[in-house]
Parts: sequence; structure tokens; C-alpha cells
Amino acid sequence: EEAQLGDFEHFMLKEINEQPLALENAFRGRLNMSEGTCKFGGLNLSRKNIRQIDRILIVACGTAWHSGLVGEYLIEKYSRIPVEVEYASEFRYRNAPMDKNTLVIVISQSGETIDTLEAQREAQRKGYHVIGIINNVGSTIARENDGGIYQHSGPEIGVASTKAFTSQLLILSMLSVYLGRTRDLSYADGCQMVEAIRTLPKLVEQTLELGEEIQSIAKAYAKNKDFLFLGRLEMFPIALEGALKLKEISYIHAEGYPAAEMKHGPIALISEDCPSIVIVPDDETLKKNLSSVQEVRARKGKVIIITDSYDIPAHLADEIITVPKSHNCVRPILMTIPLQLLSYYIAVELGRDVDKPRNLAKSVTVE
Ligand code: G6P
Repeated sequence: EEAQLGDFEHFMLKEINEQPLALENAFRGRLNMSEGTCKFGGLNLSRKNIRQIDRILIVACGTAWHSGLVGEYLIEKYSRIPVEVEYASEFRYRNAPMDKNTLVIVISQSGETIDTLEAQREAQRKGYHVIGIINNVGSTIARENDGGIYQHSGPEIGVASTKAFTSQLLILSMLSVYLGRTRDLSYADGCQMVEAIRTLPKLVEQTLELGEEIQSIAKAYAKNKDFLFLGRLEMFPIALEGALKLKEISYIHAEGYPAAEMKHGPIALISEDCPSIVIVPDDETLKKNLSSVQEVRARKGKVIIITDSYDIPAHLADEIITVPKSHNCVRPILMTIPLQLLSYYIAVELGRDVDKPRNLAKSVTVE
């Protein structure tokens, strides 16, 4: 194992740094620049089948469930197909009403998670077409489903998922272009998205350069026992994932919330000792997010903003981490990277076993 680590202290840090390559591997051979769309070899769905889909159900566990939630926003926005996302462990025991034109998508890094596998089998028993977004080639879920898209992220050894998560986000973004282009999405919009996907690895490399800055922020905040993560729209699931990452490897209590929901409960937690990480994309939600920041600060809460806007006045937050600007369809990926680095450096600061956190398994194959 040590030889595989190379210059890195932990697999998690190595895998965070492998993301430019993992993302390139996810889109290699799948971009059709001239038609402004994406293509996938293994979906087993004709254009006619795609036109007939009137609902998508995404089923997954853990971090993969968070990528499914981002997928919901992206697919509904760009493909105009209604999407629902369920925990596999809930879906498999429920008598969920489904339309015959529902497409089921399962997402799993390992391809072996028992609840996801059993949810897939249940959907297939009911006659649904199930496609997978899977990293582990030849895994049980990949072998049993009706088609799918491999992530090609390479092995992920750190228990906390990093490169597999961002690669799932990218594939969902590509899928939203592909489904969109077989339905409503315009050629011009498709071209812009494909170009944003092609140039993403460079922006990820630039984002990784924030490592040292984030390490020093992590040192200053590692003593806190509670954190809130806030975001709107696609950034809400990114907030959930940021909170999960921190919990998993540092054992600090953290909660992710849609920014505006804060006032319906979590605001009671805010104090000098409960910092908030607020994700502030440079889009139509910017002003609303900054007013959430002010609500936190008015209650003496510390705020770390993660943004791709260059216009946020420094006095508005305690820390501002700025990532490169990008198209909305890949922005959740860039916003994720500072959150991965922050939880990694906090866990290191606390002396935690980053790659093998207590009580967790890389792949949960028992019920
Ligand atoms: C475990 C891992 C998580 C992962 C989840 C689903 O809980 O610790 O990191 O997100 O399983 O795993 P899968 O392999 O199905 O994506």
C-alpha cells in the first residue's frame, strides 16, 4: 500500500489530487463536439426509448445518493424530465408507485452495496429498465443491470469518497446533456455544456492549488464541535456532502441544509462555536445567499464562504475561498473540492485515521 501512496500522506489526499485525471477519464471518448452532445456506449436505450421516458428515479446510498440529488437538479434543468431520488434502502422495502415509462438509475462506486443491489433487483422484478453509473468494472450491480455508464475513476481506497463522487457528478452532467439533446435542449446550449466539460480538468487543477490556504483555515477551525453547511439549489446536496465528509473522517458533528431552511431550526445552533460553511455561486442566488451569511453573522456565527464570485466584500465573511468560474453544469464539482480539502485537513489536524475512519466500511455488503 505504501508504494501506491507515492508522495502523499493518505489515500484520501492522493485521490483528491487525482481528480483532474479521473474526470478526464469519465468524459474521454464521450463528447461529441460537433453535435453539442455526449454519447455513451453501454446504455442500451434508443432515441425513441429516451423520448418516451416521463420520469427518472435515481437510487443510491451515502455519497452516491448525494450525487443523485445533484443529478436531479441537472437533469430536470437541462433534460426537462421529472426526477426523484431515493435511498436504496428505502426504495427496496417500499411499494413505490411507478409509471411504466420510468427509467431507474442506480449509482454506486463499488457496485457491491447490498441495498443498492437489492433495489436494482426489485426494480427489475417489476419490469423497469435499470441503468447504472458504476465505478467498479465487472461488479455485481454492473453485471446485473440493463446497461450503464462506467466512471473509470480508478480504484478508490480512502473510505471517504472523493474522486468517485466528482466523477459521478460529471457523468450526471453529461447524461443531462445527452437526454436534453434528444429532447428540448438547444444545439447552442449543448455546445456550451460540452465545452465546459472538456475544459473542466484545468479548472480542477487550479482549484487544487487552494490546498495550503485551506490547510491554514482548517487549523484555525478544527477545535469546533459543530458545523453547518449551507447551499441553495445544486449546492444544497453539495452542502450535504460537505457535512458528511467532515463527519466521516473527523467525527465532528455537521449538518447540511438548504440555506433558506436554516431559519426553520438550525439557526438555533448558531453561536461563536458553530461555524457555517456557505456555498455562494455567482448566479441568481448570490444575493439571497449573502443575506443568509448576514443572518449567521448577526448571531455571532463564524462564516466561511466558498464562492466563484470575485465581488464579495472581504468584510462579509471570516474566510472567503474562491474557486474558478465555470458553467453551472460543472460548478458543483468545483465547489466540492474545497470541502474535501477542508475536511481532510481538519481530520489530519485532529490526528484522525483519515483513510480508515472508525465504524465505516468502504463498501457495505451486509444488511
Ligand atoms: C459506504 C461508503 C460511502 C459510500 C456508500 C455507498 O457507506 O463508506 O463512502 O458512499 O457506502 O457506496 P457505493 O459503493 O454504493 O457508492
